[in-house]
Amino acid sequence: MKHIAYLPYWYFQNRLLKKEKPLQTVLFLTDYCNLKCKHCSEDGHAGTIMKPYRQVKEELEYSYRQGARFLDLEGGEPTLWSDGGYRINDLIYLAKKIGFYSVTVTTNGQRPFDYLAADSIWVSVDGYKRYHDMIRGAGTFDTLNRNIKESGLKNISVNMAINKMNYPSVPDVIKYAAANPSIQSVSLNFHTPYPGTEHMMLPWDKRIHVIDKIIQMKRDGYTVMNSVSGLQCMKRHDFKKFCWISNFILTDGTRLAECPGKTAGLCERCGFSMAGEMHSLMKLRPDTVLAGLKLRMREE
Ligand SMILES: C[S@@+](CC[C@H](N)C(=O)[O-])C[C@H]1O[C@@H](n2cnc3c(N)ncnc32)[C@H](O)[C@@H]1O
Repeated sequence: MKHIAYLPYWYFQNRLLKKEKPLQTVLFLTDYCNLKCKHCSEDGHAGTIMKPYRQVKEELEYSYRQGARFLDLEGGEPTLWSDGGYRINDLIYLAKKIGFYSVTVTTNGQRPFDYLAADSIWVSVDGYKRYHDMIRGAGTFDTLNRNIKESGLKNISVNMAINKMNYPSVPDVIKYAAANPSIQSVSLNFHTPYPGTEHMMLPWDKRIHVIDKIIQMKRDGYTVMNSVSGLQCMKRHDFKKFCWISNFILTDGTRLAECPGKTAGLCERCGFSMAGEMHSLMKLRPDTVLAGLKLRMREE
């Protein structure tokens, strides 16, 4: 709870005094992956880099000095990360020792993950059953579903990337998450067209339609992490971005003050719902502030 006190301090420093320092770090550990998802760009699963422990330690210390207190470990498949005897939990303990308040891991859940010491685990569900398998490979939904059940964990959330292939399945993913006692919430994002994956992007009129459906289900009581204000933003190309709230450290060690999508010139076609959430947070929209606080308190 005491960590929540950092948030108004951070807001004052970075929004009002315009320092623009991160609150969260997205740190890529490896580009090794055990899947080749249709929507993932080639370099997302190239299988060439496993960052050394020492490098990750320097990157965590750097991000902490920048002001970040929340960490998301990404890949590739981050649970595949190793360096000698070190495994992903050693990085989670290290981040906590450095001072990060919470650590999340995003995984495809194709291997058991009950051992993960993260505060929160994000599993990627890119559609219900056949939709997920269409994108991630035959049998991947059942494997993920089994590993969720067998994990016995209660700190799992779902991340869905909505694209041209899986958008009809959004309501079923929301219902699946609601019916699963291990799953706390679902976060809905749209496909961002990184090079080679442009064909997966959902046309804008369909995006608006899907957002309206999500808002309706949220109002009907389904647990959706996105705030209504954040979702409304995601209907527009041109809202002001505050994406410096997350810094990114890529697999090749590149340190970016903002999302790699900005470097790639994709902001106007961005699908990452955090962009809408960050905008609404900076504008102090009450529903977004509440959604953010709920998420952070749950993670701690
Ligand atoms: C890159 S994956 C890495 C972590 C892990 N291997 C997994 O599958 O969850 C992290 C998340 O980004 C999403 N993602 C990948 N490419 C995307 C894109 N172009 N636009 C939006 N989301 C994307 C994935 O669906 C997944 O939920």
